[in-house]
Amino acid sequence: IDISKLRGSTKGVITLDSGFKNTGSCESAITFLDGEKGILRYRGYSIEELAEKADFLEVAYLLIFGELPTIEQLEKFHSDIKKHSFVDDDVKKILDAFPKAAHPMGVLASLTSALTAFNPSCVNVDSVEDMYNAIVRILGKFPILVAWTMRKKNGLPLYYGDDSLGYVENILKMMFKQPNQDKYVQNPILVNALDKLLILHADHEQNCSTSTVRIVGSSHAGLFASLSAGISALWGPLHGGANQAVLEMLEAIKADGGDTAKYMEKAKDKNDPFRLMGFGHRVYKNFDPRAKIIKKAADEVLSDLGIEDPILDIAKGLEKQALEDSYFVDRKLYPNVDFYSGIIYRGMGIPTDMFTVMFALGRLPGWIAQWREMRMRKEPIGRPRQLYIGETERKFVTIEKR
Ligand code: ACO
Repeated sequence: IDISKLRGSTKGVITLDSGFKNTGSCESAITFLDGEKGILRYRGYSIEELAEKADFLEVAYLLIFGELPTIEQLEKFHSDIKKHSFVDDDVKKILDAFPKAAHPMGVLASLTSALTAFNPSCVNVDSVEDMYNAIVRILGKFPILVAWTMRKKNGLPLYYGDDSLGYVENILKMMFKQPNQDKYVQNPILVNALDKLLILHADHEQNCSTSTVRIVGSSHAGLFASLSAGISALWGPLHGGANQAVLEMLEAIKADGGDTAKYMEKAKDKNDPFRLMGFGHRVYKNFDPRAKIIKKAADEVLSDLGIEDPILDIAKGLEKQALEDSYFVDRKLYPNVDFYSGIIYRGMGIPTDMFTVMFALGRLPGWIAQWREMRMRKEPIGRPRQLYIGETERKFVTIEKR
């Protein structure tokens, strides 16, 4: 039932649902998720099939426009994106002003918001054409911000992309090309792994960051400002920030002698705020289908790259114990998308505090698709109600008399 229409007949009675655990905020035709059965589909296509057969740009097109592109449509989309694959040089000055130790997510959110100032035509977008222009611009510029954020962190000179490359290949080159390297040679294992990771992260219906993008956008704030808010929401360790937290946790367990059982007990102790990062999900009460694919990919990528990472064994050990532990079984806490992704990112040479930035890169088309859908459907401004539990009316007391 759409209870938003019942306001007139409820005489001030409202529904209260902390954390929106059982409240729909919109109708959407983008992503289908069955948390009980562990099913995830983008526009009707299973995540397993898309991760196996599609590339990230195709999936971005699918999410945003609703259909898989033809070769011509994809070429045009890519060519429109490439036309905007530059960022105003003044943005470099903003980046320069950040301390080197700044968290990349804070930098990325700020730079994404700053892009608004350099692209005023993307602020008030009402028509389908204006939306398209804003969309191809941000898809062109965002990977540059991501790559620059990492290069600044690593003390490398900033570098623009290479138009002759595919979308994902270009991202890798922008991130990893060294100043002393004449030619950056693509490693197909990395291209494949990044493509897959980005696809798996590309949308997940009304999660915290996506709801943020929709609610900010519902005030008709511009796309870039809405995305910047979404990036900030993603940063938290209970959401996208979990991928960084997982790796830090696995490192801590390793440094502590690899005693996974000790950390399992800690996670179960209600007097200890520690949680097993990368476990549990608001919607999945069964295995997160993305985690299954990523676990397999982690094995493949590390073995293809010839990396033996003891952290992977610790992760598998934790998962095995959790599957046999009644605390985790009863609460249906399974590994989520973030549990194994960091291990792959690390194998690829991406620093730990960049993991959530990589998540944002993957989620970008999903945020865009959700923002576009919200605007096209002319949804009303998002404005939840509340149950007031404060003081009743009080008389003001002047400061001398308090
Ligand atoms: N470790 C230990 N216990 C947990 C964990 C965990 N990771 N997750 C949930 N629980 C327990 C809770 O303590 C609670 O126990 P109780 O019923 O005895 O009080 C029960 O399971 C239900 O947990 P809630 O917090 O009510 O579940 P909610 O749906 O609100 O939270 C969340 C979901 C935030 C993902 C939670 O499972 C969590 O904090 N996980 C760790 C962080 C993480 O991996 N986040 C990434 C999520 S995926 C994503 O956003 C991309």
